Amino acid sequence: MKAYPTDAALSELDADLVAVGLFEGESPGEPLGSTAGADDASGEFKSTVTVYPGKPERVAIIGLGEREQFTPERARVAGAVSHGALRAVKGEALAWLLPGAGDPGPIAGALVEGAALASFEFDRFKTGSDGKEAPPELKSIEIAGPADVGEAVRIGEAVANAGNRARYLQSLPANVATPAYLADRAGEIAAAHETVSVEILDRNGIIAAGMGGLEAVAKGGSEIEPRLITLRYNGGNDGETLGLVGKSVTFDTGGISIKPSAGMHEMKMDMSGGAAVLEAVAAIAELGLEINLIAVLPATENMPSGTALKPGDVITQLNGKTVEVTNTDAEGRLILADALVHCAHEGADRIVDLATLTGAVVIGLGSTYAALISNDDPLAEEVTIAGEQSGEMVWRLPLHDEYKQLTRGSITDLVNASAERKAGTIYAGSFLEEFTEGRPWAHIDIAGTAWDTGREYWGKGPTGFGVHLLVALARQLSQ
Ligand code: BES
Ligand code: MN
Ligand code: ZN
Repeated sequence: MKAYPTDAALSELDADLVAVGLFEGESPGEPLGSTAGADDASGEFKSTVTVYPGKPERVAIIGLGEREQFTPERARVAGAVSHGALRAVKGEALAWLLPGAGDPGPIAGALVEGAALASFEFDRFKTGSDGKEAPPELKSIEIAGPADVGEAVRIGEAVANAGNRARYLQSLPANVATPAYLADRAGEIAAAHETVSVEILDRNGIIAAGMGGLEAVAKGGSEIEPRLITLRYNGGNDGETLGLVGKSVTFDTGGISIKPSAGMHEMKMDMSGGAAVLEAVAAIAELGLEINLIAVLPATENMPSGTALKPGDVITQLNGKTVEVTNTDAEGRLILADALVHCAHEGADRIVDLATLTGAVVIGLGSTYAALISNDDPLAEEVTIAGEQSGEMVWRLPLHDEYKQLTRGSITDLVNASAERKAGTIYAGSFLEEFTEGRPWAHIDIAGTAWDTGREYWGKGPTGFGVHLLVALARQLSQ
């Protein structure tokens, strides 16, 4: 999808569908107002009526709700609604007349994002033999308006395309999107940008490096080999180096502490954090943001087998801390622990990790907010603002010594899961904090927001949650 700004007037737009917003209590201006059918249009948020003024051929009048309540998030939703109208007429080219409310740049970017994200479809495994026409693809979005929104539109395009690439990775089944596949994707990103380099460790490299957590989780899978993927982006000379860590469990069976079979297939999405980090790095490199990144993806399956990690096994993580693995289904924290230490040792000044880490966060926050856990108020504040701006919102949960006590072992430094199921999301965060090597760190638990949120521009299935948040964060930190 390509997006670009234009200063063409409404009558000159030749997209398959031109979308025009209408606020509550207002009426469409001329010449639209006198077009047949325009009276049916309303400002009710998310409503849509298509009319045919001639020039342009087709206009969807989209309700934007109250003028005062119009935000980029509402624009994202309106963008998704407009894509529905475009799809209904099998169009490929969309144009939006920029609504005259709110901050023009963020609104323009959000319209692009909403429409492009709503167009995501995963049809790689459809054979097309059912005689149905292939669905039209969204090819272009023009944003028409007097305001100078070129930069915002360029960012919206990069963010939406990266989000959709992450969603594609999330959708791929575990027999395709293996750790080696993710490593190949990292290699592609490095090959496409001079500012990006990649380093891959295989099983032997992981063992030799002392990453006992990743080694242990990967022991169950003998066919599918693990990878430790490190991407570096150099865009900021001697500015801050931000560390990014993404949980990349390409399939989580639970291991010997095996999960129930109902719904287990969805655990192909347990690499959503890694997918978001990968494609955010690609978007940040594409935009040339002035920041340095070290992105780390610990990638493995979590499988039961004769060689698998067993409940009660003791492992040693990369920083020397020992862990009794009381539950092999709490595997994410074991691989993230090594990845966080590695990221810090490689030179990250501050670290943000994204992980589909706990079922508890789905209970606590549903699909609306991801959980944020941090040892640093300024970083937590930056992440929260990036979340608000991107629509990928986070809600901070506390750290406290009493939670920390729950993670203490009787024969080891730490246990990876407690029998009392207290504060599952915070427990995991408290565990991870042991591996931040004194760096300011923010952990984002996306188990509830990575899949099936039902939000208008994401629908069911993958969301790419985190891509936009990380790009927004990188933009903030590079200013
Ligand atoms: N990958 C899961 C968490 C998850 C749950 C992701 C639902 C997406 C949707 C994680 O590895 C896991 O199994 N966590 C356990 C931890 C428990 C054993 C301490 C959980 O939350 O049940
Ligand atoms: Mn698990
Ligand atoms: Zn998992």
